[in-house]
Amino acid sequence: MADEYKIPRHVAIILDGNGRWAKKRHMPRNFGHKAGADNLEKITEDAWHMGIKYLTVYAFSTENWKRSVEEVTGIMTILRDFLKKSIESANKNNMRVRVIGDRTRLDNDIVQAIEKLEEASAPNTGIQLVIALNYGGRDDITRAVRGIVKDAKDGIINPEDITEEFISSRLDTKDIPDPDLLIRTSGEIRISNFLPWQISYSEFYFCDTLWPDFSKEDLQKAVDYYNGRDRRYGGV
Ligand code: FPP
Repeated sequence: MADEYKIPRHVAIILDGNGRWAKKRHMPRNFGHKAGADNLEKITEDAWHMGIKYLTVYAFSTENWKRSVEEVTGIMTILRDFLKKSIESANKNNMRVRVIGDRTRLDNDIVQAIEKLEEASAPNTGIQLVIALNYGGRDDITRAVRGIVKDAKDGIINPEDITEEFISSRLDTKDIPDPDLLIRTSGEIRISNFLPWQISYSEFYFCDTLWPDFSKEDLQKAVDYYNGRDRRYGGV
């Protein structure tokens, strides 16, 4: 008997290739980021129709500040528009949006837009879109350790309280199950500091498609690949 076809509950995607997509068209890099943001909107709907419950995307890493001022400013403008538009689309599609990452370096108006969107969409029970913004996995773990040590110093926790589950509960992704499937587009075979703690048991799928061209069919191919895997979690 054929095994039942499994839909991954949580898919994480490293959105890569926007710059190359724009270059191929002799356009500035931010033209590619705009196309990437538009595609994220489309793929989120496709993912929901496929039965995926959580979609986490790497939109801006702690390292991305090293890009030119022009590019960073462009990405932030695209992000502002995306957050504004998402309030409407979240309610229309019953989507919940959450943002992970260190917010302290983001502009005030962006932080306010994030808080507004998170609050407005919190009751929604459809897909959860998790946007990693100024996110770095090591930074996530560092911030968690800092908080844990402070609580230990204040006598709130003891060494024996520190289990794997406890550490998970102190990361930005608390309450979000670990990704079942991690996808990276555009041909690079790297994790780039994305959710290193959370992807310990995830399946990895790498494809050459540049993010703005990544389609529902590409997502389906990734889920098919996921289904061909035997997930043993270290057992037999
Ligand atoms: C990777 O492509 C993309 C980024 C670092 C930024 C992604 C940004 C967006 C999709 C838009 C803003 C975010 C949201 C959530 C609306 P790359 O620039 O590394 O491409 P390359 O490797 O071809 O140069």
